[in-house]
Amino acid sequence: MLHMKIPEVLWLSQEEVASLGLSMRSIIDAVDEGLKLKGEGKVELPAKIGVHARKDCYIHAMPCWVGGDIDVMGIKWAAGYPSNQAKGLPYINGIWCMNDCETGLLKAVMDANWITAWRTGAASGVCARYMANPESEVISIIGLGVQGRTNLLAMKEVLPKLKEVKIYDIFPEQVKRYEEILSPQLPGVTFVPCKDVEATVKNADVVITCAPIVENPERFVRSSWLKDDVLAIAVDYDSSLDADIMTGGVFVCDDRNQYLETQSWSSYFHGGYPTSEQIYADMGEICAGIKAPVTSGRRGAVLMGIASHDIMTGRLLYQMAVDKGVGTWLKI
Ligand SMILES: NC(=O)c1ccc[n+]([C@@H]2O[C@H](COP(=O)([O-])OP(=O)(O)OC[C@H]3O[C@@H](n4cnc5c(N)ncnc54)[C@H](O)[C@@H]3O)[C@@H](O)[C@H]2O)c1
Repeated sequence: MLHMKIPEVLWLSQEEVASLGLSMRSIIDAVDEGLKLKGEGKVELPAKIGVHARKDCYIHAMPCWVGGDIDVMGIKWAAGYPSNQAKGLPYINGIWCMNDCETGLLKAVMDANWITAWRTGAASGVCARYMANPESEVISIIGLGVQGRTNLLAMKEVLPKLKEVKIYDIFPEQVKRYEEILSPQLPGVTFVPCKDVEATVKNADVVITCAPIVENPERFVRSSWLKDDVLAIAVDYDSSLDADIMTGGVFVCDDRNQYLETQSWSSYFHGGYPTSEQIYADMGEICAGIKAPVTSGRRGAVLMGIASHDIMTGRLLYQMAVDKGVGTWLKI
């Protein structure tokens, strides 16, 4: 038998991934480029599949190949457990694997918690880059955990006039922690803790919901509380935002296929949420210039999270780690 040469695989822990210092601006640009390639038909992106071992919990498999000049493929295996908060464990945890497109061999395995946190914030940043009023000054964030933090950092990158963030969480200690962590990083932005959801979304130019995804959604953000001119972004599927918010104007999602596929087999995106005909565009079409951005009136966005974001972020992290000699090379 011929001697087989199996290359080693780079392992990157969460601490190592975070230490690389990849900036929110770079991730926003990378996610934007991945969406553009998707819009141009150069990305293979099956809708994510998942299993649900406990109520309101999921673990998803998210494979993708980004073609064009990028030519990188990989898969994320990531779980979301709302019950972890009470156990002091992260809501989201997972790994991301990158494989060689020529041979299929595994090149790297890395923590995906950091990637998920940052690329999801960045995806909202890309959405706001195209769909928010560029003059936006006031934003609302509901759900002040990991996503609440990275989403605000992304808004600061793309909305230069941002001066006020209205914040709400059901746990007061989360509100306090949020302000303590973020206000030193965002001088010039005023943090306004609000007593309830209605006060939080009132007069906001952009509303972002980052609460847990649940099977029986409460959709506690009422359409009538929002300004007529608003971009409402759901990071948490259909859990928080009223269906009327999504059907009352222009509706976009990150990927048509994934949105419709999920709607077809799961309990998500029913009860008045947009159907196929009500989708104005997906973000791939917007970023590729196939559909025009809309920056006024009622705009609703469901950003479920797609695997091209992980590829576009993971490949940058891999290259930075190789260049800086970070991580551990392992034998298979
Ligand atoms: N779309 C995507 O690509 C994507 C990616 C990752 C996570 N998510 C989703 O984002 C959401 C947040 O994830 P995370 O990692 O930030 O979790 P997290 O546990 O760090 O934060 C969730 C926050 O929501 C708060 N919360 C719970 N119920 C609430 C309610 N009814 N109203 C207001 N706040 C409430 C919690 O106290 C907590 O502060 C989850 O739904 C997760 O599944 C989406």
